[in-house]
Amino acid sequence: MPSKEMPPPKKLSTLGSKWSKTKILLKHPRLRQFVPDTRIYSYENLYVMLTKHKMVYIKPVKGSCGNGVIKVVKHNEHKYAYHLGTNPRSFKTYKDLYSSLGKSKLKREYIVQQGVDLLTYQNRIFDIRIMIQKNDEKKWESTGYIGRLAHPQKIVTNFHNSGKPLPLEILLSPYLQGVKKKEYIDTLKDLGDQIAEEFHKRFPGFKEVGLDLGIDSSLKPWIIEVNTRPDAYIFNQLKDKTMFRRVLYLKRWNGLLNYKKKITR
Ligand SMILES: Nc1ncnc2c1ncn2[C@@H]1O[C@H](COP(=O)(O)OP(=O)(O)O)[C@@H](O)[C@H]1O
Ligand SMILES: [Mg+2]
Repeated sequence: MPSKEMPPPKKLSTLGSKWSKTKILLKHPRLRQFVPDTRIYSYENLYVMLTKHKMVYIKPVKGSCGNGVIKVVKHNEHKYAYHLGTNPRSFKTYKDLYSSLGKSKLKREYIVQQGVDLLTYQNRIFDIRIMIQKNDEKKWESTGYIGRLAHPQKIVTNFHNSGKPLPLEILLSPYLQGVKKKEYIDTLKDLGDQIAEEFHKRFPGFKEVGLDLGIDSSLKPWIIEVNTRPDAYIFNQLKDKTMFRRVLYLKRWNGLLNYKKKITR
């Protein structure tokens, strides 16, 4: 039985917002520990978040492909910096930072999120995409996982923003080896299954989730984004096509292969 607090199932079209998806995760007693601190972007909230976390990401609530994503760092009271695209800029005061951000941002809603100090491979940051799909036995299945290595000058890892998809085993190899690495990847897949389950409880219609996970230096996974219209094609970038084939098979099975992308990915 759904708990009293659970709202009635909503239409899929409400799932495009990063803010509403974050709120779903924050309500979950076990999943919330994996969600970076997140607020709606404003003059006060950015200030508070920078004081607390020193490094934050600003993202359009309805963005995709890493577009418009900005990394902001507070070095000290007299040095702030932000990085958008391949362009870093620094400022002496918070006011100057905020007013410059106002010119760089588009006129739409943004969130500000605690930055995850992502693991690196050959001095480039990387994060992880995990694909979870309803399978032909009506169970959630983690059908694919892949690492995404950022372009050296960028602060996002998205494929459509010059990120390089690579086998996760390679990117994790400086940090974990052998059975430990395999077990670690299994825990990430489990986390994916739980997230898919939770979203499905609230939105019974949908059949797949593409999870963006960031890993910090203590190897803690953080939920950066839950995509409800995830692309299959990133998995086609791997030489081994096993995952790609399974992802496509279940997309077809679920009637989602030719789905037109109406919402965010
Ligand atoms: N809180 C964060 N900490 C570290 N990196 C982040 C954070 N948020 C976003 N990023 C980086 O920016 C990329 C794009 O952000 P994401 O929230 O996935 O939005 P989009 O819808 O544009 O893909 C992520 O894949 C990650 O590389
Ligand atoms: Mg993303």
